[in-house]
Amino acid sequence: MIAAAGSGERLGAGGPKTFVEAHGRSLLAWSLVAFKAAEGIEAIVIAGPPREQGRVFEVAERAGVEATVVPGGDHRSQSVANALEAVRTDLVVVHDAARPLVTAELIEQVVARLDRDPDVAGVIAAAPVTDTIKEASVSRRVLRTPERSRMWAVQTPQAFRTAGLRAAIAEHPDDLGIVTDDAQLVERSGGEILIHQASPDNLKVTTPRDLKIAEMLLAERSGT
Ligand code: CTP
Ligand code: MG
Repeated sequence: MIAAAGSGERLGAGGPKTFVEAHGRSLLAWSLVAFKAAEGIEAIVIAGPPREQGRVFEVAERAGVEATVVPGGDHRSQSVANALEAVRTDLVVVHDAARPLVTAELIEQVVARLDRDPDVAGVIAAAPVTDTIKEASVSRRVLRTPERSRMWAVQTPQAFRTAGLRAAIAEHPDDLGIVTDDAQLVERSGGEILIHQASPDNLKVTTPRDLKIAEMLLAERSGT
């Protein structure tokens, strides 16, 4: 499932980030191509901008992907919840269209790890943090310095047992506007989440600077 319904305020491209091009393809198309190439993906559901469902279909068609398109919600988690209603498989991979550098291999790896262990509720891609992290108050007074070697910068793809993710979302309906990743909800419901180490290159395009870096990495990857 691909969350692609954001408005892309911080990128400031004058429209949803999903359709912004990087190295010859829209951000959404890059993710679709990776999911299409990943072994074991049975169906693709995209939560797209509510007013541009047709355009999402066009991107999927051009990428040669047969996808179900649903309207996203006001918040990312609401978009994920909407898309989840159209998911029919026991396992689901949640991915942000804002991460065009995802690879078929990474998608396969998170699924394989989850599939191997029935006690695990979710497996999430993440990269070790290289900056030291401080927790601060709203007035920016430093409260805490967690040990850096144990800090991870969380990415998508994130693989879950569909029933577990559905239950976690249903359990915390008021938090859908607050949480920034889906694993958080499953964690709070007591589900065990494992980290799968991924490359920091699998970055999220948030700002114009991120887009420049993503373009460079995509060009390097395709050898052009
Ligand atoms: N997303 C979504 N539905 C929303 C908000 C976000 O599906 N209501 C998706 C975005 O399309 C993106 C991912 O969640 O793929 C991560 O969100 P973010 O990087 O915040 O993207 P935007 O919300 O589009 O950007 P901004 O916050 O700058 O407006
Ligand atoms: Mg956002």
